[in-house]
Amino acid sequence: MFHMINLSPLLLLLLLLNHDPIQMTNAELGCDYSNGNWVYDPTYPLYNSAQCPFIEHVFNCQRNGRRDRTYLKYRWLPLGRCRLTRFNGTEFLQNFKGKSIMFVGDSLSRDQYQSLLCLLYTSSPGIKYNETRVGDISTVTFSDFGVKVKLDRNVYLVDLVPKKIGRVLILDSVARKSAAWLANDVLVFNTYAWWNRSGASQPWDFVQVGRKKLKDIDRTVAFKTALNTWAKWVNFKIDPAQIKVFFQTVSPTHYK
Ligand SMILES: *[C@@H]1O[C@H](CO)[C@@H](O)[C@H](O)[C@H]1NC(C)=O
Ligand SMILES: *[C@@H]1O[C@H](CO)[C@@H](O)[C@H](O)[C@H]1NC(C)=O
Ligand SMILES: *[C@@H]1O[C@H](CO)[C@@H](O)[C@H](O)[C@H]1NC(C)=O
Repeated sequence: MFHMINLSPLLLLLLLLNHDPIQMTNAELGCDYSNGNWVYDPTYPLYNSAQCPFIEHVFNCQRNGRRDRTYLKYRWLPLGRCRLTRFNGTEFLQNFKGKSIMFVGDSLSRDQYQSLLCLLYTSSPGIKYNETRVGDISTVTFSDFGVKVKLDRNVYLVDLVPKKIGRVLILDSVARKSAAWLANDVLVFNTYAWWNRSGASQPWDFVQVGRKKLKDIDRTVAFKTALNTWAKWVNFKIDPAQIKVFFQTVSPTHYK
């Protein structure tokens, strides 16, 4: 049975005020941060690229002579009432104490990796760091905070294996790569641009699906198959309570 309760107008008003939607948290609003727009923000950029030791020349537009700066002044604004607090590198380092963040992918991931390093480094001038590289994986450790930021240069996500017949891209396996991925708290993946490469810039000789090794394959099918392999791995191996996984989509090409 449903009982009507007699509420005094004042109590009702207080209850309503308490549920003022403006007071709702982002979690209560069910915010989807991937939905939004880039908005102009004159207070941007968040750091001066000339003060960051981590940017490779190819990504350093200002150093390479780009004259305008407007492109640096865009902030992501999620839709609706969802709010993103302004990025604060010091707070980020404190919140991620003891944690490890890894980017895995092509130059888009490399670019994002360097951006995050710059955001963190420039927030605390003089902060100690240590950079190491083993194989395809670079690690920058901010030792005062015990925060590690890593990059795995891995343009296809699935395995690329040198064999007698040549370099084989194995569409249904991530086995040789994934152990290093699991040792992190946050994983940010991407893959796209390299699937369309051919000729001298294509870094494989055969593509393997199941037991079949082919000279070539429809690239959209190959991309889809590999993404499914990767997604199955995420579903099977990742406990979302332990590791947060993000997937970045497509970037414009940066070749001339
Ligand atoms: C970042 O956060 C720290 C610690 O809360 C604070 O002291 C500092 O003023 C903040 N920096 C900016 C630019 O807001
Ligand atoms: C840098 O990192 C390596 C690998 O983690 C470690 O062996 C070395 O002691 C570190 N060096 C400094 C100066 O922190
Ligand atoms: C893929 O490569 C072909 C041939 O090189 C080119 O015509 C096409 O525009 C490329 N597509 C994309 C999405 O890059």
